[in-house]
This record gives sequence, structure tokens and C-alpha cells, in this order.
Amino acid sequence: MAINRRTFLRSSVASGLAFAAPGLLRAGSGRKYRTALIGSGWWGMNITGEAIQSGQCKIVALCDVDQRQLDPAAAKVERLTGDAPKKYRDYRELLEKEKPDIAIVATPDHWHPLATIAAVKAGAHVYVEKPIGHTIIEGRAMVNAARAAGRVVQVGTHRRISPHNVSGMKFLQEGKAGKIGMVRAFVLYGGGPEQPQPNEEPPAGLDWDMWCGPGPLRPYNRKMHPKGFRQFLDYGNGTLGDWGVHWVDQILWIMEEEWPRTVYSSGGRPIKGPPVFTAKEQTTDAPDHLLTTYQFEDFTAYWEHRQFAGNPAEKAENVGCYFYGTKGTFHMGWKRGWTFYPVSRGQKEIHEEPQLNEPDQQNIRGLWVDFLDAIETGRRPVCDIELIHRSTNMSLLGMLSFKLGRSVRWDGQNERIIGDPDANKLLRREYREPWVYPKV
Ligand SMILES: NC(=O)c1ccc[n+]([C@@H]2O[C@H](COP(=O)([O-])OP(=O)(O)OC[C@H]3O[C@@H](n4cnc5c(N)ncnc54)[C@H](O)[C@@H]3O)[C@@H](O)[C@H]2O)c1
Repeated sequence: MAINRRTFLRSSVASGLAFAAPGLLRAGSGRKYRTALIGSGWWGMNITGEAIQSGQCKIVALCDVDQRQLDPAAAKVERLTGDAPKKYRDYRELLEKEKPDIAIVATPDHWHPLATIAAVKAGAHVYVEKPIGHTIIEGRAMVNAARAAGRVVQVGTHRRISPHNVSGMKFLQEGKAGKIGMVRAFVLYGGGPEQPQPNEEPPAGLDWDMWCGPGPLRPYNRKMHPKGFRQFLDYGNGTLGDWGVHWVDQILWIMEEEWPRTVYSSGGRPIKGPPVFTAKEQTTDAPDHLLTTYQFEDFTAYWEHRQFAGNPAEKAENVGCYFYGTKGTFHMGWKRGWTFYPVSRGQKEIHEEPQLNEPDQQNIRGLWVDFLDAIETGRRPVCDIELIHRSTNMSLLGMLSFKLGRSVRWDGQNERIIGDPDANKLLRREYREPWVYPKV
């Protein structure tokens, strides 16, 4: 579907606040929300910082399976607020005892579905991190659980509320880059061959069995935790599942699409080398580069990532999306905002700088305010779970095609792969006992 002024207006009205600048929204009841964090690592604490900053949330409890993450996080909350949050090792106990109004889920990806579903069932509204899950059917189960419980579930794809992304979306949807025939989304970082890291006994204070949870119980290795799970396919989905969700989400959002018709990936580890997984040592196992083609009805999109060679050849930025239109090329970036490079000679480039928050150059703040406003007014939030389920599916289908080694035709309505039973088996996975794969 080509975007035009009419659809642009329709979508902005539908989303309610597509152009409201973060900070202009006010969640107005003055109510204090009893808020709990599940997964008190790097990003969870960034979100918690914004929850505190909103002035409407009291951080009553934190949960982490690693005491080395939990203790400093609790000390920081106490320093910032004067209140000591309760500390938990098991999110089920936290939900039962604290009954929070809001739960933030910022664990590694393979835990998002069970923690989110348990939280909405316990009556909490949830702010869950991207990608929403590890396999596609988990995502559908999360959407259904949110709807059944009547809770607001916001996903942390904060680019949907970031000022330059919003103005860039408007620019493109008004047709200023012409008709878009192709989109290229990419994350290009440097890197090189990977050396295996020895396996170790889990450090004191870390419940490694619980960290692995529904995923396979691999030997503990410091490459995986903290933060490293992204490049281990038992727990994450590589760069496309991690960084990539933000950019494939921009494609669906700006082009007003719900899903692609076909998906094909190719890639591998020619530079990092074959994955190593022995009783003694491990490397990561996600591809060091990947090309994924998404065929939509009226345009083609593709994803490209590399973890070698960096990107010195392109001047715009090493992450983002290029939208290629009949009137020029539009780069939607991150720290460099957006730039439009017109086709016509003599026409000047147009550029907009970003407005980002520290730490880590993000727009969680706007998304948090939107979340509270959605709770208070009973509307869907900007990054509603169903929307970002579809964006997560873009990433997961790309990785599914990579694992399968062939293209897939996607029936987005029924969330099935057409005519390929083996591919459909990869829409879910076996959970390790006692964890049970969520029911749709
Ligand atoms: N939206 C964004 O821009 C953005 C940026 C960074 C990270 N993220 C997302 O945030 C999530 C966390 O990433 P991170 O980099 O902070 O990782 P991290 O490793 O720093 O933190 C994750 C924490 O979860 C804990 N954990 C694991 N299993 C748990 C369980 N069952 N219960 C409670 N805690 C558990 C770990 O011990 C760890 O402390 C990921 O899903 C990631 O994709 C989003």
C-alpha cells in the first residue's frame, strides 16, 4: 500500500498522538502507581529511571536472578527516591506478594513472554522490552493475554515517539520523498574473528538455572550474561532480533504495513567463524552478517547487518533506514536525526537533528508518559503489544528463514507460513521443564 496524505491523516488520528512531542502529554490523575521491575540490568534500570522521573510511580520492588545486578539496582532506587524497594529472585513471588499496578519486564528476550503473561494475569499493566519474545506464537499468546486481562501493554520501541522519527514519518507520509519503492534497514558495526571463552561455574549470587528458564540449560559463560544473550540463539535472535526490531518496526509504521508476503534471509559467520559449543568453551552462534528481503505488495524492504568492516563507506550513519522514493533518498537515523537527499539537482538536502535523552540517547521518557496516559484514559498505547508483535514477527521471520535456509510465504492474518510444515514448527519451540509454552 502506497502512503499518501489521506492515509497519513487517518493513521495520525487513529494513533491519537502520533505528533505529540514527548513531554507535552500529561497523565493527569496524580495517582502514584506501584511499580515493579523484573530484570534489573542495564536497560531495565534506564526504564526505571524514567518511571521515577515521571513523578507518578513508586518503585516498590525489583526482581533479578543475579544478586550482583539486584543489589546495586536497589541501592540506586533508594538513592534516587529515598525508598528502599523490596528485592525478589522470582518474579512469580513478586507478583503474588506485591500485586504491582505496573510491571516493567526487561529480562533477556526468552523470558519476556512468561513474565509478561504472568504480570497481566496478576492485574498489572506492563512495559515490556523488545523483541517481545523468542518465537512467534509466544507473541500471539502475549497479545491475547493482554486483551483478556484488559491491561495496557506498551513495548519499548521508543522510536515511535522520538521527535525526529515522528517528523520523518510525517515527511514521508506526506509524499515529500515521492512514492517509496524500496526500503533498506541496517546496522553495520565493526568486529572480527571470535575467540571461544571458557565455561565457568556460575558466579555466587547468580541463579543460572533460573536465568536459562524456559530456554536450554547451557553451561554458564560470561559471554552470555550480562547483556550477551543477544548473540546466542537459544535466548535471543541475533542483531536482527535485537537492534533490528527498531528498524523493521520503522518500516511497518511509516509504510503503514502489517506484514510482508514473503521473507528470505541469507548470511553466516565467515568472519566470526563456526560456532563453538563444547563442555569447555563457547562462542556466540548468531550470524555475523545477514541479508533479509521482505516482499510487500507495493515495495521491497531489506535488512542488512554486519559485525565486521564497520561502515566507513557511507556518510549518513551506520544504523537506520533508507527510504528510496521517486523524489529522493531519505535516511532515518538515530544520533544523526534524519536527512533527505533530493533527486533534483539544485534542490538542497533537508536535515533534522534528533532530540534524545541520556543515558544512552533514547526516548523512553515520552513512551513512559504515553504509557501512563494510556492507562489513565483506557486507550491503546503508541507501542501497543499487537503492533510490536507484528514488528517482532518481521525480525523472527527473518531469523526463521535464515535457520531454515529457504524463503517463507507468510499468511499474516492467520500467523502461519503457507505450505511449509517444517517452517511452521519453528513458530514455537519446546520449553525446558517445568516451564510451559504459553497457550494462545
Ligand atoms: N528499547 C531499547 O532501546 C533497548 C535497549 C537495550 C536493551 N533493550 C532490551 O532490554 C532487555 C534487557 O537487556 P539488557 O541489555 O538490559 O540485559 P542485561 O543482561 O543487562 O539485563 C537483563 C537482566 O535480567 C535478569 N534476568 C534474567 N532472567 C531473569 C528472570 N527470570 N527474572 C528476573 N530477572 C532476570 C538478568 O540477570 C539481568 O540482570 C532485552 O530484551 C533488550 O532487548 C532494549
